Amino acid sequence: MFLKPKVLSFFIFLLAHASVAQVRVTTELSNNWKFYKGQSTTAHQQDFNDRKWETVTVPHDWAIYGPFDKEIDKQVVAIEQNGEKVATEKTGRTGSLPYIGEGWYRKKFTLPHYKPGQKVLLVFEGAMSEPKVFLNGEKVGEWNYGYNYFYFDISKQVAAGKENTLAVQLSNQGLSSRWYPGAGLYRKVQVIVKNQESIDQWGTYITTPFISDKVAKVNIKTSVSGANTRLVTHILNAAGDTVASDKTQMPFGNKFEQNIAVNKPELWSPETPYLYTAVTQLFVDNTLKDETSTRFGIREINYKAEVGFSLNGKVRKFKGVCLHHDLGPLGAAVNKAALRRQLQILKDLGCDAIRSSHNMPSIEQLELCDEMGFMFLAETFDEWAKPKVRNGYNRFFETDAEKDIVNLVHATRNHPSIVMWSSGNEVPDQHGSEGAKRARWLQEIFHREDPTRPVTVGMDQVKATMQSGFGAVLDIPGLNYRTHLYEEAYKAFPQGLILGSETGSTVSSRGVYKFPVEKGIGKAYDDHQSSSYDLEYCSWSNLPEDDFILQDTKPWVIGQFVWTGFDYLGEPTPYDNFWPSRSSYFGINDLAGLPKDRYYLYRSQWNTADETLHVLPHWNWKGREGQTTPIFVYTNYDKAELFINGKSMGVQSKNDSSLLHHYRLMWMDVKYEPGTVKVVAYDKDGKPAAEKTMVTAGEPYKIILEPDRSQIAADGKDISFVTVSVVDKNGNPCPTATNQLKFSVSGNGSYRAACNGDATSLEQFHLPTMKLFSGKLVVLVQSSETPGAIKLSVQGKNLKGAEIRLKSE
Ligand code: GAL
Repeated sequence: MFLKPKVLSFFIFLLAHASVAQVRVTTELSNNWKFYKGQSTTAHQQDFNDRKWETVTVPHDWAIYGPFDKEIDKQVVAIEQNGEKVATEKTGRTGSLPYIGEGWYRKKFTLPHYKPGQKVLLVFEGAMSEPKVFLNGEKVGEWNYGYNYFYFDISKQVAAGKENTLAVQLSNQGLSSRWYPGAGLYRKVQVIVKNQESIDQWGTYITTPFISDKVAKVNIKTSVSGANTRLVTHILNAAGDTVASDKTQMPFGNKFEQNIAVNKPELWSPETPYLYTAVTQLFVDNTLKDETSTRFGIREINYKAEVGFSLNGKVRKFKGVCLHHDLGPLGAAVNKAALRRQLQILKDLGCDAIRSSHNMPSIEQLELCDEMGFMFLAETFDEWAKPKVRNGYNRFFETDAEKDIVNLVHATRNHPSIVMWSSGNEVPDQHGSEGAKRARWLQEIFHREDPTRPVTVGMDQVKATMQSGFGAVLDIPGLNYRTHLYEEAYKAFPQGLILGSETGSTVSSRGVYKFPVEKGIGKAYDDHQSSSYDLEYCSWSNLPEDDFILQDTKPWVIGQFVWTGFDYLGEPTPYDNFWPSRSSYFGINDLAGLPKDRYYLYRSQWNTADETLHVLPHWNWKGREGQTTPIFVYTNYDKAELFINGKSMGVQSKNDSSLLHHYRLMWMDVKYEPGTVKVVAYDKDGKPAAEKTMVTAGEPYKIILEPDRSQIAADGKDISFVTVSVVDKNGNPCPTATNQLKFSVSGNGSYRAACNGDATSLEQFHLPTMKLFSGKLVVLVQSSETPGAIKLSVQGKNLKGAEIRLKSE
C-alpha cells in the first residue's frame, strides 16, 4: 500500500508524538490548587494541612474579585512623570483591588511517567510577585520580577512514584506599581520531565539570515546537555508536511548549529502569518533521547536611516497599540480566548503591532500574534536604578536586570511577531551620564543574546536624552508623546529614524459627550467621565491627529504605538485624585473591549480594506432641544452630507484648514432636535457611496444578546463574550440606558464575569449583576470540561428579558 505524502506525514507525526510521550512529558499544573491570602511560616512544609484553603485554577488572580476599596492604594504623592510638583491624595492608581500582601498556593501532583535519574524542570511564565518556590518542603528557588518567565531544575527534590507537594509564596508590596499588577499565579505553571541527554530549556534559537524567492536559509542553534549526542531536525510547513531535514553530530561545546534550506519560502507578515515548525530530535547512538517542536516564521526585518522600517523588503509603518497585561474583568489571569478577542478587535481596527507595556508579554499573546499576524515590541521594565514608585523594579535592577533580559530573549526569540525589543519605558535614568551607560549596558545584553533585533527605549525626557547622550546610544530612539520634538530629535540623534513608542493618550468614556465641544487638557467633570468627542488629553499627551500627521508626512517616522488599545485597571487619569475612578480612560476600546468612538477615527486611517462611516454623538438628548450639539463623522471617505430629519446640514470635506479637519468631518453648529440623523458619504466622483442612520430612541424595552462566538471549546477555559444592550419598542438601540441587569448561566458552562466599561463602577466583575453603561455591557460565559449546551439568561426590571444558547465541544 502506498500512502499519499500527506497521510504518510500524518503517521510520522503520530509516531513522533508517541516517542515524544516517552522522551519528554510536559504537564500543565492548572486544576486543584489550594490558595490562601495571608502570611504563613509553615505553608511551605510538605505535611501542612491546606484542606480549608480555597480551591482554585491556575492561571489565577487573587485580587480581581475585589471588592474595590479606596483605602487599598491611597497614596499622597506627586506623580512626577505627569509633571506634578505637589503631592496630593491619589486613589485608584493600581485599580483599588486587594493585590497587596502575601498569598500562598499549594499543589499536589504525581509524575507517573518519571523515572529516577531523569531531569525535571518546573517552569513559571510569570508569578506576581517575588515568588519563593518550595517542593516537598525544600526551597528550590525564587525570582523577583513578577512579569518574567523562569524555571528551576527540581530533579533533586522531586519524588518518584509518590505525591509531590509544590508550595509557592508570593508577596506584593504597596507603592510597587503605577497600574494594576494583578496578584498570584496569573500565568501557567508547567512540569517538564525529560532525559539527562536533552535539549536545554529555551535552548533552540532560530533565525532566517538569508531569504530569496527561491530559498531561505534557516539557521538553528540548539544547546543540549549530554555527551555523544547527535541532532536531527525536520522543518514542517503549515500543513505539517516535511519540507527540509538536516542531521549533525558536530556540537561546538554544548551547541549544535544547522543551516537548513527551505525552498520557495512562504514569508511571515501581518497579512500572511505563515508559520513553519522545526522538529528537533536528539539521539545518542540510535536512541531518541529528546524531541521538541518550535514554531517560527521566515521573515526579514530591516531598519535603515532615512528609509525606515521594512518587513520582507517592503517599507511600512507600525500601526500599533500599547497594551497593559490585564484583561479587564479577568484581571491579570491569562486567558487565551480573551487575548484572541482583543486581537480580533484590533485586526478590524487595522492595527498591525502591539507593544507589551511595560513588561514581558504572556507566551499566549505571542503565540496568537504569530498566528493572527501582529508585529510585536516586547518590553522589559518601567524602571531601572532610579525609582518611579518606591518599591518598584529599582529594588532589583542592579542584581536582576541582566538575567531578566536573558530570560525574556531566550523564552521568546523564536516568535516571528517580535520585531523589536524595548529595554525600558520613561525611566528616570534618562537624566545624566549614568543613565546613558545603563542604556548601553542593557542594549548590549540584548545584542549578545539576539543580534537580529534592534532595541528601543520609550523616552519622555527628550531634551535630557539629547544632552546626556542617552538617545544617541539606542538602536531606535523611541519618543513617548512630545510630537513637537520629533523634528528636533530626528536632527539631534544620529539614527535617522524616530519611533512613536507611545502616542495619543487621548481620554474618553464610551458613549459620554460633554458640551461645549472644545479641546481640553486634563478636564475633569462631576461624573468623573471624559468626553467622547475625542478632544481631551493630558498635559504631556495629544490628540490622534497630532500623530497621524507625523506618520503621514515624515518618512523617517517609523510608526506609532497608541496609548492604549484597551482601557486597563488603574491609572485613572485625569481622575487620579477623584474616587471612585479606578481604571483608565485612555483606551481606544473600553475595559469591556467595546469600541469607543475613537476606534473609528483610527480605523478610518488604519483599516484600508474596509469602509468606515461612523457618526457621533448618539441622538438622545432630552433637554438639549435647540442647543448646539455638534456632529462628527469618522470615515475613510473625504466628503459627506449630514441630514437632520431630512434637512441637509451641508456637505463637509476633509481639508487642510486645521489638523482636525484633515482627519474628521465636523458639523459644529447643529442644533439638537429629536428624530433621525443621516450621513451620506460621497466618493471621489461625488457619488453617494455609503450612508448611516441613527434615530432618537424611546424607553428601554427589550434586552438584546450578541455573542462573539456561539460555539466554544469544552476545555473549562474558553469564553464567549456576549454583548448585552437594550432597544426600544421599535428595535432602536438605547444609548444612555443604565438598567441594572441580572445574569444566570445553566448547562455545561458558568458565569465568569461582566464588565460595562465604566471607569467609576464599583460593581464586582464576578457577581452576576451589573448596570448598563451607555446602553451596553459584556457578559463572559465560560465553558466547563463537559461538552454540551450552555444557556445564558439576562433579566432586568421592566425589561423584556433575553436568553441565548451557546454550545461547547
Ligand atoms: C506615559 C507612560 C504610560 C502611561 C501614560 C499615560 O507617560 O509611559 O505608562 O502612564 O503615560 O498617558
